[in-house]
Amino acid sequence: MNTEEILENAQNAIAAARDEKTLDEVRVAYLGKKGELTVLLKGLGRLDPQERPKMGAAINQAKERLLALIGERKQALSDEHLQSVVEEEAVDVTLPGRSAGSGGLHPVTLALERIEDIFVGAGYEVVTGPEVEDDYHNFEALNLAENHPARAMHDTFYFGDGTLLRTHTSPVQVRTMETQDPPIRVICPGRVYRRDSDLTHTPMFHQVEGLVVDRGISFADLKGTVVDFVHRFFEKDLDVRFRPSYFPFTEPSAEVDVECVKCDGAGCRVCSHTGWLEVMGCGLVNPRVLEMSGIDPEEFSGFAFGFGGDRLAMLLYEIDDLRRLFENDLRFLRQFN
Ligand code: PHE
Repeated sequence: MNTEEILENAQNAIAAARDEKTLDEVRVAYLGKKGELTVLLKGLGRLDPQERPKMGAAINQAKERLLALIGERKQALSDEHLQSVVEEEAVDVTLPGRSAGSGGLHPVTLALERIEDIFVGAGYEVVTGPEVEDDYHNFEALNLAENHPARAMHDTFYFGDGTLLRTHTSPVQVRTMETQDPPIRVICPGRVYRRDSDLTHTPMFHQVEGLVVDRGISFADLKGTVVDFVHRFFEKDLDVRFRPSYFPFTEPSAEVDVECVKCDGAGCRVCSHTGWLEVMGCGLVNPRVLEMSGIDPEEFSGFAFGFGGDRLAMLLYEIDDLRRLFENDLRFLRQFN
């Protein structure tokens, strides 16, 4: 191969080199100790003395040329590398920032806080009690002695050692009466548990119990309190009706219906076309219950009510499926932020 051919091959190899390592391999292949140009240079001695200077000059020229090309290519490669690093690490300061996602309260928590606010505004105290209760506070002290048929209404989770998961928040009214002297005015929000699970029941749900004990408390006080609460909670002057009912711990007892919030009483799917929604149980505290907790029924009387926090949250926020409350689907929960 003559100098020109070697030079041309080398030029192509240099242009094709994509990194410094390959470029250096090209340099060694042509200019290294055993490189093609070096070998050519070493062979000069075998040439005709007359041709030597011309040939020698050509080879040296080619050598210079290659060194220059390699230098240029090296510079180009390092510029390219720098450019790509700059591009990769570039920060676009015009991009919108990433905001820290903010959480929100669960609709049931929101409803419970709303309920608490209303009653605290009316002078009530918020009290709580244990979720693992004993049989005495959950049943017996509420006039539900062993084998009382009404116990069957509570599908209870028993632990087998006399304790159980409370089936309602009413035991908190017992605990309050045991430790406080009248006048008593409390609400007790909390989780309750029943062995029940279908479209409209979950094994855990929320109740709010209310209890007022003082001298001269009558059914009229209970009615006024319930109607006022309903109007404040729904921010609507809905009709409220009291239907006679039975609870062992209250006498007389009533079930409270509220004019359907969805259809204003006209009848719709939410109220099963009755125009009414059943929202709570209530009544005057059974004198036996007062007595068992150490309050003299001759001197004091009281009223109590209890309702579901989940149910009120669903009615307030127009949630049509109870299960939504427990699925933790962020798309659902974010609506309440
Ligand atoms: N504890 C009752 C229940 O869970 C509700 C209630 C509370 C009724 C207070 C009357 C008075 O069904």
